[in-house]
Amino acid sequence: MSSPSISLASDSLADVSAGWLVVPVCENGEFPSAIQQLDQRTDGAISRLRNRGDFKGKSGEIVLLPVVPGIKADRLILAGLGASDGITSARLEKAILTAARKAAGTEHSTIAVQLPAAALEKLGASSTAAIIVTSLIVGSVGPGLYKAEKDRFAFESIMLCDAEGSAPTKEINSGIERGRILADGINLTRELVNRHPGELDPEAFADRAATVAADLGMWGTVLDEPMLEDEQMNALLAVSRGSGKAPRVVALEYKGAGPDAPWLALCGKGVTFDSGGLSLKPSEGMIAMKCDMAGAATVLGAMTAIARLKLRVNVLGVMGLVENMVGPKSYKLGEVLTARNGVTIEIHNTDAEGRLVLADVLSYAVDHKAAKIVDLATLTGACVVALGEEVSGAFTNDQPWCDEVLAAARRAGEDIWQLPMFDSYADQLKSEVADIKNVGSKWGGAITAAKFLERFVAKTPWVHLDIAGPSFVEGSKASRDAGGTGTCVRTLVGLAEAFPN
Ligand code: BES
Ligand code: MN
Ligand code: ZN
Repeated sequence: MSSPSISLASDSLADVSAGWLVVPVCENGEFPSAIQQLDQRTDGAISRLRNRGDFKGKSGEIVLLPVVPGIKADRLILAGLGASDGITSARLEKAILTAARKAAGTEHSTIAVQLPAAALEKLGASSTAAIIVTSLIVGSVGPGLYKAEKDRFAFESIMLCDAEGSAPTKEINSGIERGRILADGINLTRELVNRHPGELDPEAFADRAATVAADLGMWGTVLDEPMLEDEQMNALLAVSRGSGKAPRVVALEYKGAGPDAPWLALCGKGVTFDSGGLSLKPSEGMIAMKCDMAGAATVLGAMTAIARLKLRVNVLGVMGLVENMVGPKSYKLGEVLTARNGVTIEIHNTDAEGRLVLADVLSYAVDHKAAKIVDLATLTGACVVALGEEVSGAFTNDQPWCDEVLAAARRAGEDIWQLPMFDSYADQLKSEVADIKNVGSKWGGAITAAKFLERFVAKTPWVHLDIAGPSFVEGSKASRDAGGTGTCVRTLVGLAEAFPN
């Protein structure tokens, strides 16, 4: 991953030398002095745009001026932030991502971004710098991994401009480093999700995880098929049976705190392709199913960021990697599996495979000193029906732990909404022949899936995040790319940061 050099400058905006100068502008009020100066140097270009109604500064709005006499930068982008009193991290991110996606279309480019006064005031210097840097690096990478002709290029250098000279340098610099590390974590998650399923099978994912972990000095173990049999991970193994690709479970340990500090466990569903198995999906439902390892990719992306930030916390990451396919050995409807923790499961639908993979991964985490658990999974279409494509569902057996996860999400600017876990939902999982079956009725499917998982976490405080909606998008928008999004990486890092040590 090529990493741009990033610096802080205090030149007036018109004197900044860069291929691209990005100036975020609020919708209301007078221009701050740095923008007023730029306006004067450009013969009133910015105020004329505003007066004519060609650029109002609304959130998401963008104007690209490819030639601007009077300034040193080659090109100017004005990016709308909306009303100054309503600035949020999400709005700043949207403005910078939109600008970055445009600017990254040119090779070898340098980009300078004005630190907006309203954001510095509302979000703080460190967060403002981190959000801008993250958005620039995330926005410079697209999903076109397999295109002969590249259409997006990493920036060679990034400059943050504090023309007013008021921002605290130390805070800005720590924000810059944090922003870069978060972006690399998010881009790793995105890349893994975007790799096609012929290439990224369970073994390839595990190899990549092992390499990444070794580079960062993390302890890791890769369990292959015989080891998974020894571990009695029969639910996970059953899902994998129809595939020609061997399964893997990867466990990574990041030890940033003392030996007696509690362990935070992050568990991820890593189905590298979900055909549905014998309960085969139709093509429309199958086309996006290379994304079904997004939970595992999120765990890996977050762990790399946690390690590079050297957080004082102990984190165990467990990724369950399988392919759900149709083959002569496919697991069957009516088959009864005995999961790692001894619970027997009657299979009613082989497309409800993620919960089987997670069942064994969760019980492994419980037995490997997890004090608290978060799992991430593209688990149900029902969660997308309930909450839409941009919000993840949260489910828990422990409200205080869930409140911590939701607070971390809020700080990270990611939208997660809790759904209930009433006992009545568990009734849907009753089986005539086994302890439980693997699907409920037609209704409340996101919750019955969570009630299923609850059977495998014993009494450990646990939060399940269903990221089926936000982790992958089919089409691109001005402010974000198609494909993997890296959702929840920031939430997990923020959660680890706040975890006791
Ligand atoms: N991987 C899917 C869920 C999914 C759907 C993820 C859409 C991303 C986008 C999961 O394994 C699945 O197939 N779930 C079934 C469960 C059903 C059989 C109870 C579903 O949602 O239809
Ligand atoms: Mn499925
Ligand atoms: Zn699945």
